[in-house]
Amino acid sequence: MKILNFGSLNYDYVYSVDHILLPGETSAASRMETFCGGKGLNQSVALAKAGAEVWHAGMVGEDGEALLAMCRKNGVNASRVKTIPGKSGHTVIQVDRHGQNSILLFGGSNRCLTREYVDEVFSDFDRGDMMLLQNEVNDIDLLIDIAYEKGMRVALNPSPFDEAVQKCDLSKVSILLLNEVEGWQISGEHGAEEILEFLSHKSPGTEVLLTLGKDGAVYQGNGCRLTHGIYSVPVVDTTAAGDTFTGYFLSAVLQKKPMEEALELASKASAIAVSRKGAAPSIPTLEEVEQYPFEAKASL
Ligand code: RIB
Repeated sequence: MKILNFGSLNYDYVYSVDHILLPGETSAASRMETFCGGKGLNQSVALAKAGAEVWHAGMVGEDGEALLAMCRKNGVNASRVKTIPGKSGHTVIQVDRHGQNSILLFGGSNRCLTREYVDEVFSDFDRGDMMLLQNEVNDIDLLIDIAYEKGMRVALNPSPFDEAVQKCDLSKVSILLLNEVEGWQISGEHGAEEILEFLSHKSPGTEVLLTLGKDGAVYQGNGCRLTHGIYSVPVVDTTAAGDTFTGYFLSAVLQKKPMEEALELASKASAIAVSRKGAAPSIPTLEEVEQYPFEAKASL
């Protein structure tokens, strides 16, 4: 089974700061670095590093060569990514002394998908393949409808949440991967139990993977619920931790690994990503995940 990821590719301009700036505040950054990122690209890289056969689709601007090279270097098939006139997507990211971040996103070429381009990409995929989406490209509701009509499985990471997510028909989504904030934004409910309950009524056929930060993650689907804790590591930069979790989890699902193993691999991989700087470059290989000397068993 192939996976098609229609997703963003961004240059992340990362500023190391003491604290995330307050409104009206001016402060100096101690360091500035540029990384390849974008929720789409990060998730494709994580999928590929975890062993999935992944095709990335999306658009870069004339400055996009390094983003394409990052895909290719990590085993992501980038042949469907189109280069168009103008600028690629980029972000301005502040990372504070605790490794927490704040991200300002400029969509650029990521938001230039056309119906003609989308149809051309879909012509290479079929029933039984999977499509993955985040909310950093335009028209995700339409992409979901097309993939569903083709009989593809749809995985949706509704991040960042905005009104485009509200237009999506969740009953066409096979796997929804979200964090507690997105869970609240979709359901209006606080608390994992309430969010999962809401989703099981709203879209009973959708499997849900809810990540809960330091409280781990919960999978709900096929009549069961499974929880998994986190692995403790020194926090350097949390950027792309969620993307790493998503990619590793879906890769395990595609490889039909047991759900417990999928959660364990995804939790370990995202813990390693947190202990490293940057987005795509922080994502570990499967070998690194298997060999990392975690000190203790995952804790909730
Ligand atoms: O999830 C992390 C990503 O979000 C960053 O790489 C940035 O590009 C934003 O899209």
